[in-house]
Amino acid sequence: MIKVDDEHAQLTIARVYQAGQEQVFRFWDELDDAGRAALLAQVETIDFRLLKTLVTKYVERPTPLPGTIRGGPGGASLVLEPPDVIELPKDDVSRARDAEARRRGLEAIAAGTVAPLLVAGGQATRLGVDGPKGLVPIGPVTGKSLIQLFAEQIRAAAARGGLASLPWYVMTSEATDAGLRAAFAEAGQWGLPADDVFFLKQRDLPAVNVRGKAILADKNRIATAPNGHGGLLLALSESGALEDMRRRGVEHVFSFQVDNPLCAVLDPVFVGHHVTAGAEMGTKVVEKKEPDEKVGLVVRRPRQPGLSVVEYSEIDEANRVEREEDGRLRFRAGNAAIHTFSVSFLERACALDLGYHAAQKKVRTVNRKGERIDPSEANGLKFELFLFDAMPHADPAIAQEIARQDEFSPVKNARGADTADTARRALIDRAARWIESAGGAVPRDDNGRPTHAIEIGPLTALDREAFEERFGEKPPTIDGDVAL
Ligand code: UD1
Repeated sequence: MIKVDDEHAQLTIARVYQAGQEQVFRFWDELDDAGRAALLAQVETIDFRLLKTLVTKYVERPTPLPGTIRGGPGGASLVLEPPDVIELPKDDVSRARDAEARRRGLEAIAAGTVAPLLVAGGQATRLGVDGPKGLVPIGPVTGKSLIQLFAEQIRAAAARGGLASLPWYVMTSEATDAGLRAAFAEAGQWGLPADDVFFLKQRDLPAVNVRGKAILADKNRIATAPNGHGGLLLALSESGALEDMRRRGVEHVFSFQVDNPLCAVLDPVFVGHHVTAGAEMGTKVVEKKEPDEKVGLVVRRPRQPGLSVVEYSEIDEANRVEREEDGRLRFRAGNAAIHTFSVSFLERACALDLGYHAAQKKVRTVNRKGERIDPSEANGLKFELFLFDAMPHADPAIAQEIARQDEFSPVKNARGADTADTARRALIDRAARWIESAGGAVPRDDNGRPTHAIEIGPLTALDREAFEERFGEKPPTIDGDVAL
């Protein structure tokens, strides 16, 4: 074992050896004092005992992944059922149902019992941006970032409820924490009081190679990744966020991902359905149209009362492609990753063992000489907890359908589907529909696309109803790019 003078550091090093991960000190002799100190400081933050358990479970004795629906007896698919869903309103009865939900949701928000929570700890590898994804400019005219658009929605929702402000819980990770905190501070939290933004940082876990050994990203740095958004549960209790919620009288949490600028943050209809059902957890679902679309699926499992999400990377082939007689996918309740939680359920969920998901990923590393390598193929495993694995424990859990064009256009990739451009386009299209439904005219090209970039800021109108209320008398005329 390598030797150091400091007794505490020596114990830390011993933990690494006990976990069989001593290769992380491979370049120790070449490192200067600063390099050694940096490596030891990182080692301090890593739970090597947990890593050892994960390596045993997923590398040495791999079992089917939790959440997988493959592998019933003889490898047959387990019998899954589509979930019960609160469908999009289609008649007077369902419209009245949603109007009542909206009323109850607005009431709960105005009472200060609902708080937004953003999960923004992901590394944005597929998008390939430098820095946190939340800072990507998305406003089609103003170039406002994803985060600014969310912050403005929260300010507007608070104002609509007659509140001075609302507490906003923001989960970061090692990869995004400094960048997000700096951006919030520089922008004066986009008008939110600093005291009302509560940052909580999720933990990181090392990525390991096929033999279960932690990979080095550099001579003095272990390659790590955030522990999945399910790391939220631990972060909520460790950071004191749950206590903060209790202190402020927060009873329900509206959680959303950083990548979807169409997300109606604190949507009163969804909150209202959650409150009316006395739900412990809720999820919005968007119709999955094609088997290849990368959305998880909300399903019902045999002998379980609640709902589950099966991630797109883990779904059984037969279930993935099965279609109904009318041509729609049988399993089409796509997880929009917009959830509600009751705070009491979150408190209970902190003690749950959600089980990790292990995924093969490309992990930047160094060769034997310490030279950086960007692998072209997956060379490592990353371990992640998924927040929605808490859902089967929620009783009751609800699923509410949303219209894709109004609420779902995530920014995932640099090219192809789900890019910043497709999200900007979706924002413009939605703004055009709001203007038209308020009686305004929007010039469109031969394909029916608005010819100008139009942006409606959340502080101008939070939703179609608010827009009609504000502009119904005198809808705006669109004759060029415009930010309203
Ligand atoms: C995710 C969902 C998928 C859903 C889709 C909708 C997961 C595992 N899957 O897929 O079911 O249909 O979104 O768009 O979430 N994050 C963290 N910490 C982490 C990892 C991720 O905060 O450790 C955050 C990211 O910042 C992002 C969100 O979680 O806001 C989604 O992560 P991502 O890895 O992009 O999930 P997807 O594969 O797109």
